[in-house]
Amino acid sequence: MKITFGELALPKSGTVVVGVLEDGVLTPAAAALDTATDGALRRAIAASRFTGKKDELLAILAPAKLPLKRILLAGLGKASAIDAAQMQGLGGAIVANLNSAGETEAAVQLDAIEGAIDPGDGAANLAFGARLRSYRFDRYRTTEKPEKKPTLAKLAILSPGAAAAKRAYARLDKVADGIVFTRDLVSEPANVIYPETLAEQAKSLAALGVTVEVLDEKKMAKLGMGALLGVGQGSARPPRLVVMQWKGNPKSKEAPLAFCGKGVTFDTGGISIKPAAGMEDMKWDMGGAGVVMGLMKALAGRKAKVNAVGLVGLVENMPGANAQRPGDIVKSMSGQTIEVLNTDAEGRLVLADVLWYCQDRFKPRFMIDLATLTGAIIVALGTDYAGLFSNDEPLTQKLVAAGKAVGEKLWQMPLGDSYDRQIDSDAADVKNIGGGREGGSITAAQFIQRFVNKVPWAHLDIAGVTWSKKDSATVPKGATAFGVRLLDRFVADNYES
Ligand code: BES
Ligand code: MN
Ligand code: ZN
Repeated sequence: MKITFGELALPKSGTVVVGVLEDGVLTPAAAALDTATDGALRRAIAASRFTGKKDELLAILAPAKLPLKRILLAGLGKASAIDAAQMQGLGGAIVANLNSAGETEAAVQLDAIEGAIDPGDGAANLAFGARLRSYRFDRYRTTEKPEKKPTLAKLAILSPGAAAAKRAYARLDKVADGIVFTRDLVSEPANVIYPETLAEQAKSLAALGVTVEVLDEKKMAKLGMGALLGVGQGSARPPRLVVMQWKGNPKSKEAPLAFCGKGVTFDTGGISIKPAAGMEDMKWDMGGAGVVMGLMKALAGRKAKVNAVGLVGLVENMPGANAQRPGDIVKSMSGQTIEVLNTDAEGRLVLADVLWYCQDRFKPRFMIDLATLTGAIIVALGTDYAGLFSNDEPLTQKLVAAGKAVGEKLWQMPLGDSYDRQIDSDAADVKNIGGGREGGSITAAQFIQRFVNKVPWAHLDIAGVTWSKKDSATVPKGATAFGVRLLDRFVADNYES
């Protein structure tokens, strides 16, 4: 789908989209169209349940005297509440509606509305939402019938100050590039994306100015990363650790921001094997790593004035003759020994070494890790919120605020000594599961915290939000890339100079 920006004008083909405010108040563009059609818009509204509430859409066929196919009325609700998020959602809804109608081209007329978002910003955000909703992972569908494919090929967004809209979109488009990158990586099956190929994908970021290093097994063994290596040892695919550095503020003497991701390219559970039903979902157990890679792409793409590092631990968790066994004791890079009581609690083992290495090497300002870590966080929060665990209140507040602003919501979860005691081991320094199933996402976070020194740290358990079973405004079902928008915003609002 090609997105363009232009000044307000009546389009000559396809669908025109115009806004209607609450209680059926026509925007100037809608009023002009109503006059040109002898009142067709008002009659259509009167004959339907459409009242101009936010998120309502009403399609009407264009009267014969117009060169258009149809007119799509978009409910805008209260003028004073029209913000960036609403415009993104509207862009997504327009794309979904017109694709199911079989439309190939459309133009949206956006007026300046008193009290609402500036039309240039509104246009840019509408475009962003439209692009995000039009995402589709269809690389492997070779026999899909043309009538099942999306049709919308051109979307023009017309507003006063189109040049400003185009400038505002240029930045959002780079964030969308990051999101699309993440969605593609997370959607790919595990026979295509495994540690080596995921590391290759990371190398593509070098074209944007990101420095990318890939550590192989030998290097990791030398560094003493027994926890990460233990997880990977049952797989024929060797593990990798990727370090990405973006130096967008080269003059700054401050320590970099650090983002770390769990990259389990497939999680069978290992010897503590998972049941067959639903195991295919574990191709997206590299979601945290995917988000870190997409974030680096967004930051570099829009040349963010910030220094950030992204580290991802890439392994495949398989059973096999060489797999680690329940009860094995491994030594992590930190020196702490870990009793592996359940080989399916592998993400925390990977992060233990990645986080240690990250703080050891970069002495970052803070570390944020993302991981599809526990089924328990889905039990606790469902699929609307990701769990947030942190040792630092200011960091927590900044993350929660960024999440609210972009619609990727975080819910703070507790940490504490009584949870921590549950992972004391009789045989080693720590064990990789708690006493029972209760508070499973918390004991997992406690485990990770044992590998965090005195640095502000936040852990995002994204198991419930990484993959969606249903379409929503700007996120089609499938890989969501939850976290890219959030962290891009978090960086932009707090750390760019
Ligand atoms: N990758 C899973 C967690 C997960 C489950 C992510 C469902 C997405 C959807 C993780 O490695 C895992 O297996 N966790 C176990 C931990 C348990 C063995 C302590 C779990 O949540 O059951
Ligand atoms: Mn697991
Ligand atoms: Zn896992």
